[in-house]
Amino acid sequence: MENSVSGFSKFTKAEKIDWLIANHFQNNPKAKADLERYWNTDEVLQKLHDEFTENTISNFYLPFGVAPNFLINDKMYVIPMTIEESSVVAAASNAAKFWMERGGFKAEVLSTTKVGQVHFMFHGAFSELEALFKTIKPQLFEETKAITKNMEARGGGILDIALMDKTEKLSGYYQLHTTFETKDAMGANFINSCLEQIATTFKSCSKDIQVVMSILSNYVPDCLVRAEVSCKVDALATNTYTGQEFADTFLQAVRIAEIEPYRAVTHNKGIMNGVDSVVLATGNDFRAVEAGVHAYAARSGSYSSLTHASIEDGAFKFWIELPLALGTVGGLTGLHPLVKTALELLGKPSAKELMEIVAVAGLAQNFAALKSLTTTGIQQGHMKMHLLNILNQFEANATEKIHLIEHFKTHTVTHSAVVEAIENLRA
Ligand code: HMG
Repeated sequence: MENSVSGFSKFTKAEKIDWLIANHFQNNPKAKADLERYWNTDEVLQKLHDEFTENTISNFYLPFGVAPNFLINDKMYVIPMTIEESSVVAAASNAAKFWMERGGFKAEVLSTTKVGQVHFMFHGAFSELEALFKTIKPQLFEETKAITKNMEARGGGILDIALMDKTEKLSGYYQLHTTFETKDAMGANFINSCLEQIATTFKSCSKDIQVVMSILSNYVPDCLVRAEVSCKVDALATNTYTGQEFADTFLQAVRIAEIEPYRAVTHNKGIMNGVDSVVLATGNDFRAVEAGVHAYAARSGSYSSLTHASIEDGAFKFWIELPLALGTVGGLTGLHPLVKTALELLGKPSAKELMEIVAVAGLAQNFAALKSLTTTGIQQGHMKMHLLNILNQFEANATEKIHLIEHFKTHTVTHSAVVEAIENLRA
């Protein structure tokens, strides 16, 4: 096939770039220069990044920001956030400041159980399989001892292995549904290693067992954290709204997200602005978190809001429950220098404490978005933060930026208004 390549993975980094530039960039030297411009001059650091993943040819920067003033369980935090979208860090900081003055966030880990499954086929009698499983179960634990020894010393390990009959949904399909406690590790590698050993032991005892695959589940509804804010309704008053007006409209916005999937998806996207940016900054797997969180949001059969709110006896309460499998040891946490910085900034939290922080970031983000949506509208604040991006897009110089930022302190930022202002200034 035209432009196909064999053995690309074995090329050196320079050879990979040369091949790409010749075959996909018409030998344009600027394309090569752009890739090289993002290399780190510290060769040791660059090599570290090259080796995180495969076929690396450059680095892709995301901003590493911080949101101060988070009071969580009576302790102050500055939360690191890795995100490219303007107004997210500002919104988190804004909500943090707002709630710091109203008692702060309360967060609590409700459970920490993770799950992995050996999926297999068996077409004999269920009673026979059940008897076999009962006999071999102690051996399944025994033969994973070499893998679980260190985790057990830390207080974790395999919690249970259960035989699940799934034949109603798929003929001959069963699982060894295995639950784990992985303490401060996210546990993916630990869980998968245990599962593969369990599968090997299990299938060795009957030729009628056909193992399909052994893998952790990123759905972790029993690895759950809850975060909450509350205050007197009157304490929510703004310059334009009474506390009651604000709380009532806010509550309606949450109710709409609870019952209307189109709105719930956007509502939860706003929550994930906060969640993902902290998950990413702390070197955790945001794809796993995303998949698990959205499955949780759809657990009733209809996709719904991750946050909830109530007004009772003059008190406003707003809370979130999130399934989060996070680690503060292992994976990138000990490798990526900025991840180490992020964890240090958070005071080297345990995985449980990090779950609390991440849930709070999600709740804060949702509060800021709903506060804007139900009062000024989202564009006012968001576009104020986006102004610099538009100015950069039009290559505004330093003097132009100063002038236009001043101008838009008293004018509404829209894309066309910024373009017009730049044109007027340049004319
Ligand atoms: P404001 O009240 O105009 O801000 O809010 P301010 O200038 O008065 O400053 C007040 C505080 O806000 C500051 O305190 C900061 O904490 C923070 P200070 O530092 O002065 O003591 N703040 C900032 N922090 C860092 N950098 C900044 C900055 N500016 C203010 N430049 C703000 C402005 C944008 C914060 C507010 O309008 C807001 O929270 N808007 C919501 C923005 C948002 O949610 N963005 C997410 C992207 S939109 C989206 O993807 C999700 C969405 O679709 C979800 C949904 O539909 O639910 C909306």
